Amino acid sequence: MELKDVIIERRSIRKYKDEQVSTDLLFKICNLALNAPSASNMKAWQLVIMNEKDTIEKIKRFSPGMGFMPPALIVVGIDQQKAVKRAGPMANKEFIYYDAAIVAYNICLLALEYNLGSCIMASFNRGAIGKFVSFPENICPVLMVSVGYPLKEPAKKILKDKNDAIFLQRYESR
Ligand SMILES: Cc1cc2nc3c(=O)[nH]c(=O)nc-3n(C[C@H](O)[C@H](O)[C@H](O)COP(=O)(O)O)c2cc1C
Repeated sequence: MELKDVIIERRSIRKYKDEQVSTDLLFKICNLALNAPSASNMKAWQLVIMNEKDTIEKIKRFSPGMGFMPPALIVVGIDQQKAVKRAGPMANKEFIYYDAAIVAYNICLLALEYNLGSCIMASFNRGAIGKFVSFPENICPVLMVSVGYPLKEPAKKILKDKNDAIFLQRYESR
């Protein structure tokens, strides 16, 4: 699949087949996803992979944004201590969110490469999830990404021209 097709075809998938995603494949995806740009090169990511039904069911209780049951879940955490040490005080205000989002998106794109669907989630109780995955205080669970084999092909996006959001040299000029 060409990169442009991957970008166009990625959709947030919330309905999955009742089929396990292998631990090896999840590790492979995470490993590749961490080849990402990082503010001040802080590279403070800490990922936790979950692919056990019981665990995911418990996570769901603290995650209003997860109105569905995925076969696998990846918590994208950032070590805030390492982030601040490397990137200074701005790290906690902004950089941890940028860095986590880039890796989460990499996971989504790589998922497609392996015929998997995914959905990024930010709506969850960070304190509860952090405790649940045994993160120490300095690691913040910033995002979660669900992963699984899609129940059905997502509807094809009607490709709309996005030029109304793109300008040349200055805003509102083309
Ligand atoms: C930072 C971020 C947080 C999101 N949080 C949630 C969430 O908590 N629950 C959810 O179901 N979808 C969540 N989404 C997915 C968006 O709803 C989805 O990307 C958007 O509706 C566009 O649809 P598409 O991804 O299929 O193009 C999130 C997406 C992003 C980028």
